[in-house]
Amino acid sequence: MYIESCEILTHEAITKTVYRIVVSSERLARECYPGQFLHVKVREAIDPLLRRPLSVHRVIPKKNTIELLYRVVGHGTRLMSGLKSGELLNVMGPLGNGFDLETPFDHAVIVAGGMGGAPVFFLIDTLLDMGKQVTLIWGVGDGKEIFGIETFKARGVDVQIATEDGTVGKKGLVTDLLIPFLAKEKNNSTLCGFVCGPECMLSSVQKLAGKTSFPWQASLEERMACGIGVCRGCGVQLRNADMKMVCDDGPVFNLKEIYFEA
Ligand SMILES: Cc1cc2nc3c(=O)[nH]c(=O)nc-3n(C[C@H](O)[C@H](O)[C@H](O)COP(=O)(O)OP(=O)(O)OC[C@H]3O[C@@H](n4cnc5c(N)ncnc54)[C@H](O)[C@@H]3O)c2cc1C
Ligand code: FES
Repeated sequence: MYIESCEILTHEAITKTVYRIVVSSERLARECYPGQFLHVKVREAIDPLLRRPLSVHRVIPKKNTIELLYRVVGHGTRLMSGLKSGELLNVMGPLGNGFDLETPFDHAVIVAGGMGGAPVFFLIDTLLDMGKQVTLIWGVGDGKEIFGIETFKARGVDVQIATEDGTVGKKGLVTDLLIPFLAKEKNNSTLCGFVCGPECMLSSVQKLAGKTSFPWQASLEERMACGIGVCRGCGVQLRNADMKMVCDDGPVFNLKEIYFEA
């Protein structure tokens, strides 16, 4: 883990609130692993004091580029959205464990909700390079936030989209697509599930995953301060009552072991 000031190559709005930023770093392009995150200092000033965690969205090793995809939700991300190409972005990372891709499986079913789509692109690129079969079930509120899927389809990914506004794919939630998928595949031992998104979605998927015989990995989001396991501020409880730190033990956990209140 290092701290590095990376040159911003491009910074574009995908929708009114979702931005993609591409930075240059030979080291990060070499070292980042799917499911890891960077702790971003959104500007060189005292305010905001804390870095903001953002998943590695995509890595293009040949170009030495790292992409982040983020939604403007508050003070930090609003400041970040004003950064321009040519400026520097100070990042700490790569942090976190990332997805376990060593576990034996042939077919990945990836369930993503909202900004949970951010880490999924790097995951899919890596799985395809490994020769795995991939099904992506991606749900968002606004169909304008769906992008990049034609490239995945062209590479053989089975892409299923759910939007709450009904403008792309099925009108509804990711679980409306996951339920029929699992009706056929719940005992398929060649599968591994991956899920990224808000807690309410993870909790719903956990209930469905509990009836499957294959493993599931979930990427969690918690508010973070240090990002390196020191402040003990990002705890998540497991069903066996253990407390784990999302930044250091995660952000990827066994979905079936996480304790959700709902
Ligand atoms: C490991 C990890 C990876 C993440 N990856 C991404 C990503 O790729 N793209 C992306 O858009 N967002 C991602 N997030 C969430 C992102 O870190 C927060 O949206 C961001 O820190 C908000 O900063 P802010 O100053 O704009 O908002 P604040 O002003 O701090 O808060 C605004 C709102 O956002 C909520 N919020 C703040 N921090 C978090 C957080 N860490 N997790 C969830 N909700 C939060 C607050 O509760 C509040 O409702 C990730 C979070 C984690 C822990
Ligand atoms: S953010 Fe400090 S321990 Fe996780």
